[in-house]
Amino acid sequence: MSLALADKVLQTSTPSDCVQTIQFFNDVLEGLNKPQKALSPKYFYDDAGSHYFDEICKLKEYYPYRTELSLLPQIASELEGLLGSPCAVIEFGAGALAKISPLLNNVSAIKHFVPIDISGDYLRASTALLKERFPSVEMTPVEADFTQPVALPALNGLQKMGFFPGSTIGNFTPDAAIKFLRNAAETLGNNAFMLIGVDTKKSPNILHKAYNDSLGVTGDFNKNVLTRMNCELNADFDVNCFDHYAFYNPSEGCVEMHLVSQCAQQVNLDAHTIHFRAGESIHTESSYKYAPEQFTRLVHEAGWVVNKQWLAPDEMFSVFLLRAQ
Ligand code: AVI
Repeated sequence: MSLALADKVLQTSTPSDCVQTIQFFNDVLEGLNKPQKALSPKYFYDDAGSHYFDEICKLKEYYPYRTELSLLPQIASELEGLLGSPCAVIEFGAGALAKISPLLNNVSAIKHFVPIDISGDYLRASTALLKERFPSVEMTPVEADFTQPVALPALNGLQKMGFFPGSTIGNFTPDAAIKFLRNAAETLGNNAFMLIGVDTKKSPNILHKAYNDSLGVTGDFNKNVLTRMNCELNADFDVNCFDHYAFYNPSEGCVEMHLVSQCAQQVNLDAHTIHFRAGESIHTESSYKYAPEQFTRLVHEAGWVVNKQWLAPDEMFSVFLLRAQ
């Protein structure tokens, strides 16, 4: 990172934001110098990106959000019996905390809620709002990278249940998903439960529409990472010279999102120059879809067993209750 950029970052950010920007810069530089240029999907989620994602969740084509949400009241009504004792729910990557409400509304056994997220300010603000709605539930937000083992607050012998909705597990490669689940088992401890949303395998035509919506919101979401690099990393991407491109890759079993350069061009990234050939892409996200038996195998490899599975009536989305072995 150049001195000029380091200086700008130091002047305008808190110490923890500085660390995150340096990490962002290093990851971008490494990712854009790979033969297949690539960025981690975690970099979609600045304020604008989180807003675009909220808009995606309202789209008629984007079935995962509403399908999972429609399953949660039924799941919640069964959880009380399945968990068997007062419990603490630990949500991984809590974001706007939209999915926890149906559980807090319906499961009186939940006594403590611990949302974990890297965006501390956003996390604390959304937890404070949630606390107003559920004053009797103790809430302790933890600012941390949930993909690593996390030190939890004292939970006074409560049964622990991890919560990872939204099929965010699909944004990890299968190997990274196993690693995440192993780390989660370490964070939560023996006998913990984990309630996790998983997108199912389905017609590529449905997937195509879900990731190429008619309003172009997913394209804006994808391209926002270019704007983010321009603002935060002194880059000069011309956003109009890249196309959003999303397709189902059947051999990998995932939807891939790319940003494709419309022409041969070079882009400055702070003191570095990145060259693009016409048609060359940046791979920005993979979204893996799992058949139930495939996900069950993955879970076993990570040291968990499937306790129960709920499948939407149209088989568009599933939710699994896992138990750490
Ligand atoms: C957050 N994640 C599960 C979404 C998905 O479907 O992979 C992100 C997303 N990408 C494009 N649309 C939504």
